[in-house]
Amino acid sequence: MNRFEGKTVIITGAARGQGAAEAKRFHREEANVVLTDLLVDEGEALARQLGERAVFVKHDVTDETAWAHVFERAASLFGQCNVLVNNAGIYKPAPLGETTTQLAEQHFRVNQLGTLLGMKHAIEPLSASGHGAIVNISSVAGLRGFANAISYGGTKWAVRGMTKVAAAELAPHGIRVNSVHPGFIATDMLKENPDEINQFGAESAPLKRHGTPDEVAALVAFLASNESAFITGAEIAIDGGWAI
Ligand SMILES: NC(=O)c1ccc[n+]([C@@H]2O[C@H](COP(=O)([O-])OP(=O)(O)OC[C@H]3O[C@@H](n4cnc5c(N)ncnc54)[C@H](O)[C@@H]3O)[C@@H](O)[C@H]2O)c1
Repeated sequence: MNRFEGKTVIITGAARGQGAAEAKRFHREEANVVLTDLLVDEGEALARQLGERAVFVKHDVTDETAWAHVFERAASLFGQCNVLVNNAGIYKPAPLGETTTQLAEQHFRVNQLGTLLGMKHAIEPLSASGHGAIVNISSVAGLRGFANAISYGGTKWAVRGMTKVAAAELAPHGIRVNSVHPGFIATDMLKENPDEINQFGAESAPLKRHGTPDEVAALVAFLASNESAFITGAEIAIDGGWAI
C-alpha cells in the first residue's frame, strides 16, 4: 500500500516506541515524514535510517514556539502538511495520595497541553492541504480508570475529550480528528514501569498478550488515510480487549 504518496506526516515522540513504528509505517507508504522528539540521537538515527523523505526536528511538545517551527520546517521541506500524529507522552504512575502538583503538571503539559498545541498549530496547514487528519494517542487509561494513574489517566481522558471538541470544530476546515487508545504495548514506556507490567500482565487482557508498536501504527495509518474518510471524533481501542 502507498496511501500517503506525496503527503507529509508529522509524528511527535517519534524517536522510539510507537512513534518510531508509525514513522516507519508512513514512510513505507511513501509519505514524507517529520519525526519530532526530545531524544535527538535516537530521532536523528531513525531519520537517517529511513533516508530520503524523512527528517528529524528536535521538539518539545510543551513549547508553543517550537510547534510553529515544526510546521515551518515541514512546509519548507515538503511544501504541505496533511497529517499530524500527537503521539508524544509520559507515564509516571503514583497513587492519588502521593501525587504532587509537580507530577500532575508534568503530565498535563506533555500529554494534554502538547496535544492541544499540536492541534491548534495544525489548523492552518492541514486545512490548506484540502483533506487533513489528526490522530491523537490517548490510552486505555482514557477509557477506564485504573489505580495509580490519576495524573496520567486524567490527561488521557482529556485527550479523548479534546479530540471530540476538535473534531466538531475542525470538520468545516476539512480536518478529521480521532483518538487511539492503546492497551499495554511493548515499548520502553512499559519496560520503565515494571510494577505495572506485573500488575497487568499479558494474561489480564482477553487476547492474553501485550500489543506491538506495529499494530498501533497500522491503526494510526488507517485513521490518517482516506480509507477512514467518514470517521471523525471516534475513539478506537487497540488493547486486546482489556477495556471491555
Ligand atoms: N506503551 C504503552 O503501554 C502505552 C499504552 C497506552 C498509551 N500509550 C501512549 O502511547 C504514546 C507513545 O508511547 P510509547 O509506548 O511509544 O512510549 P515511549 O516512552 O517509548 O515513547 C514516548 C516518546 O515521547 C517522547 N516525549 C516525551 N516527552 C516529550 C516532550 N515533552 N516533547 C516531545 N517528545 C516527548 C519521548 O522522548 C519518547 O520518545 C504515548 O502517548 C503513551 O502515553 C502507551
